[in-house]
Amino acid sequence: MKILIINGSPHKGNTWLLTEEVKEQIAVIDNTVKFEEIHLSELNIPFCIGCSMCFREGLIFCPHNQYIQPIMDKIEGCDGVIFSVSCFQGAVTAITKNFTDHLAFLLHRPRYFYKKALIISTTGGVSANSVTQSLANTLPGWGFNKCYQLPIVALSWNAYKPTEKHKKKAFKISKAFYMDLKSKKLHSPKIGVLIPFNLFQAMCKEYTPGSEYSTQDGVFWKKYVGMRYAPGIPLPIYKMAIGRIIFQIGKYLSPKMIVTYKK
Ligand SMILES: Cc1cc2nc3c(=O)[nH]c(=O)nc-3n(C[C@H](O)[C@H](O)[C@H](O)COP(=O)(O)O)c2cc1C
Repeated sequence: MKILIINGSPHKGNTWLLTEEVKEQIAVIDNTVKFEEIHLSELNIPFCIGCSMCFREGLIFCPHNQYIQPIMDKIEGCDGVIFSVSCFQGAVTAITKNFTDHLAFLLHRPRYFYKKALIISTTGGVSANSVTQSLANTLPGWGFNKCYQLPIVALSWNAYKPTEKHKKKAFKISKAFYMDLKSKKLHSPKIGVLIPFNLFQAMCKEYTPGSEYSTQDGVFWKKYVGMRYAPGIPLPIYKMAIGRIIFQIGKYLSPKMIVTYKK
């Protein structure tokens, strides 16, 4: 089993310390797990400049593709991803936000349907849960099948010592994450996840090659025609029906709200 760890903090501080604890805990359960680390602060990814090339033409036209594509390949090549992100001003760190901005196009063209995530954050006093929750809101839109959250109040700047209570909480969540990865069980998506999947799929016909404002959405969704969610993911009949309604709404709305761009 391969677990990719993305360190979205600008240093190896309290959150990294907790992440190392989690790494050790998982290794105790299964010493064959292979970890790979990406430290975003070492990559010096320039800020997303908002050119929207990823949305329109595809990621290969992103001016920062050489930084982003290798990370996406690593996500593709692992079973699960651990995101390790400090709480700065009640939110994710700037380098994490910059990274997720570069992947915002995944909401239009999701793909990581068979991946699961564990999101770890520490805070001085409050809002670690806002950090983990904000990523747990974003990742299912990219396709992630399940997100586990480990928010911890460290009450410290750079001198955090995990308490026994914190270690127990970390173990409980890490074990649940590991067991879920091992089981390869695929979870049914929440209704909120069906909205972008079905809306963008329905709206893509306005953006097919040759249309006035064609984008990669017009190409991407062809492989999901007639599907209300990704193949192999359990979708009970009522969610299928909800997906169909969302799809119909998207079909109705799409000609009325075509997104333009400067040529
Ligand atoms: C720039 C900055 C912003 C912070 N913002 C908050 C905050 O909003 N709420 C809070 O309780 N602690 C805040 N803290 C404290 C950190 O969240 C806390 O020390 C956390 O454990 C840092 O994790 P790290 O060492 O992995 O970076 C902040 C610290 C820094 C340096």
